[in-house]
Amino acid sequence: MASTNLSNRRLRLGMVGGGKGAYIGGIHRFAARLDNHYDLVAGAFDVDAARGHAFAAENFIAPDRSYGDYAAMVEGERGREDRIDVVAICTPNHTHYPIAKAFLEAGIDVICEKPMTTTLEDAVALHELAEATGRFLGVTYTYSGYPMVHEARAMVARGDIGRVRVVQVEYPLEWMATGIELQGNQQAAWRTDPKKNGRGGSIGDIGTHAYHLAGFVTGLKAEAIAADLATFVEGRALDDNAHVMIRYEGGARGLLWSSQVAIGQSNGLRLRVFGETGSLVWHQEHPNELVFTKLFGAPETIKRGRDDLSEDARARTRTPPGHPEGYIEAFTNLYSGFAAIIRANAEGRAAGPMGEGIPASYDGLKGVAFVDAVVDSHEKHNGGWLPPRFA
Ligand code: NAI
Repeated sequence: MASTNLSNRRLRLGMVGGGKGAYIGGIHRFAARLDNHYDLVAGAFDVDAARGHAFAAENFIAPDRSYGDYAAMVEGERGREDRIDVVAICTPNHTHYPIAKAFLEAGIDVICEKPMTTTLEDAVALHELAEATGRFLGVTYTYSGYPMVHEARAMVARGDIGRVRVVQVEYPLEWMATGIELQGNQQAAWRTDPKKNGRGGSIGDIGTHAYHLAGFVTGLKAEAIAADLATFVEGRALDDNAHVMIRYEGGARGLLWSSQVAIGQSNGLRLRVFGETGSLVWHQEHPNELVFTKLFGAPETIKRGRDDLSEDARARTRTPPGHPEGYIEAFTNLYSGFAAIIRANAEGRAAGPMGEGIPASYDGLKGVAFVDAVVDSHEKHNGGWLPPRFA
């Protein structure tokens, strides 16, 4: 059995998916390296075993730790003295559940991509398995890794904008504005296949990020949602545009827009929160800035790196103001948070500031429950109000 003393070495990381030509796996690998908490030592990197082995060799993975598939990886790793401490799952959505389940059952912690599963039933089962095994399951809601998102969260919690009234969150993208899934685009192909993607198209792929971000910053729980979905690209099986109204506990109102057909929008995630005495605006394409406006005041741009920001924002900051940080650093902040929690769990202590607000299995479950409620509202209730089953 592997040693549980994790205090004097880097964590041994394995990866499933993320092979040649894949998108998010490479970002995970950057994030694992930047703060020096992990060594990537094993993987089943590709749905095609031969391609996966070639990729493993290019990435200096020892041949005996390059596996043909995830089941072989679980078997190969579980008995090793130097087995992996944690596995990152960077595969299409429909594979998250069986892969995460197999590693949790082998006693190995998991970093899982979002959405956590394709069905609510699987999300409940995975959350319960993580609880039952006592293993950590982190979910990569990327945007909660940004320092200025943590600053916004701290400001809302401190009452800087007063009681929250209105939450507007939008995640528009243009990349699927045409039928690229039929023209050989690997990422679009599985995202438009309900069996691989799950029930929600844009709402599952990016709506889950927006929903998590809004809840993360405001601390509000959704009581009910009402949704209108649309599919603009002919022949596509899932929504590529979604409008969702949200009633939050305590009376706040929300509006979430996710779109994969918004021409001119590269990665336009934007959150605006309006309270009784002020408002906050954060835009993912300008992540080093947070715009704060007090009632009847002029907008103030708060910049990342300042000494007077919250402890949570400063803990996630590397460079001084004017030296931009971005996506890779935000992803790294999640990875460093996961490492803090994994080490703390092994030593039976609290994780400290980097573990603060880290998305875990219940957050993953909430995201899947949101998608389920959105699709039910649209398909079965003509856009009527429904409570998400988990919030
Ligand atoms: P992709 O299609 O670019 O890559 C998927 C990779 O998984 C490929 O290397 C493929 O060969 C491999 N794969 C597929 N089935 C496998 C299996 N059974 N065993 C081993 N490898 C397998 O997909 P992409 O865009 O990287 O998305 C992957 C996941 O990451 C999805 O769940 C997606 O929702 C999520 N994602 C999250 C982002 C974030 O900001 N957190 C951003 C982009 C994607």
